[in-house]
Amino acid sequence: MEDSKSFTHPATPNLKYGIREIVDVAAKLKEIDPTYNFVWENIGDPIAKGWPVPPFLKEIIKEEVDRPGDAVFGYSHSRGAVGTRKWVVDYAKHFSPSSILDYEDVVFTSGLGSSIAILYQMLKPGRRIIQPAPAYPTHSSFESFSAGAAPIAYKLDPKNNWQPDLAHLEEQLQKHPEIVGLLVINPNNPTGAVYDEKTLEKIAELAEKYHLFIVADEVYFRMVYNGHRHNQITEINRNRVPLIVLRGLSKDIPWPGARCGWMEFHYTQNQTDFADYAAAVKQRLLLEVCSTTLPQTVLPKLYEHPSFEDWNKQYNQGLEVAANQIADILAASDSLKVIRANGAFYLMPLFKEGILNNRQTLPIKNPEVKKYIEFLAGPASLPLDKRFTYYLLASAGIVAVPASDFYGPFPGFRVTTLDRDPARRKTTYERLVRAVAQYVES
Ligand SMILES: Cc1ncc(COP(=O)(O)O)c(C=O)c1O
Repeated sequence: MEDSKSFTHPATPNLKYGIREIVDVAAKLKEIDPTYNFVWENIGDPIAKGWPVPPFLKEIIKEEVDRPGDAVFGYSHSRGAVGTRKWVVDYAKHFSPSSILDYEDVVFTSGLGSSIAILYQMLKPGRRIIQPAPAYPTHSSFESFSAGAAPIAYKLDPKNNWQPDLAHLEEQLQKHPEIVGLLVINPNNPTGAVYDEKTLEKIAELAEKYHLFIVADEVYFRMVYNGHRHNQITEINRNRVPLIVLRGLSKDIPWPGARCGWMEFHYTQNQTDFADYAAAVKQRLLLEVCSTTLPQTVLPKLYEHPSFEDWNKQYNQGLEVAANQIADILAASDSLKVIRANGAFYLMPLFKEGILNNRQTLPIKNPEVKKYIEFLAGPASLPLDKRFTYYLLASAGIVAVPASDFYGPFPGFRVTTLDRDPARRKTTYERLVRAVAQYVES
């Protein structure tokens, strides 16, 4: 009887976003003990980590804001400013000369997160998009929410620099004929991996063999270092299978608060089903009126500014130094397996097998905080890596996200590599290594 009155969507538990869920736990600890001064390694926000907004970006915004007519304060086209969508077509051609993308197949949303939500929402019930594991939870959660079932995933292989496990991928495709699409996140969040050409070639082959479309989340494609390069899926796939490329402003420049992302539907000409899917997404967008006008308006000027490429180069150099320094420090731990990041701004160290149990703890000075953490760590079903991150937060003040919150099949945690200050990085990560040792030995 009780159940019939409930009106909350039954798939709500499928919506998980550990990257911010831990923020609520930290807020609670701060409420109990205001002396906490947390190190936020949970979220990829360069502004929060002290990266300055480049002056040329501020100048471009000011110019647009002051333009007579105040157009940037108004609504814009429901699929995104036409001029900017045409610019996206040229941008795609710049990186992939074979591209025949039409600007009518480019759509803007308020942040790429919104594109992702809409993409899965418009999927026919029962049809699935296979996810990587570990994965960026917005993808896996929305896919799983729409399906009302657990994500169907292929493993990323830590023994092979976090490249996709292609044998496992094919096994899953054979097992699940309901899969119609394949998600690739490259460069990868949460692992920091950059996929090599051979891997992407094999992914395109599998997509062709199993008649799938590819969703390529390339939001980090300009963040590649350690001598690696980004291989464009548009060039590798060409017109073999329909392709959705996801990009955005959030990571290309320190302005994630702009909330500006876009989807490119490549090769709608080749398949009516895919064209219908793109049309459904566009129809859905009409109902939202439009997405953020100002960022869309300044976007082409930003990327074409004479300072942008230099700025991007320096940004990547900074990320490379930070990622390597952090990996070196973490690699000193006997309990962790560290796979170096070559792109994006994350690293996911794993615990060596069998090293965690549900009795391990770290010292917590404040008795009320200790009680609260013991309560959180109580449930027998709590993943062991999540238990570790609770103790790390309360004892060492470091906010990290457990690998299990990324649907990761291996226990570990994700940190960001965004801290700009080398001395602070050293202090934070040496403290983390000590905390891991103390936790494992407790
Ligand atoms: C792989 C990936 N895709 C999409 C997004 C969402 O980006 P946005 O800030 O534009 O919503 C993120 C954000 O961290 C991400 O890591």
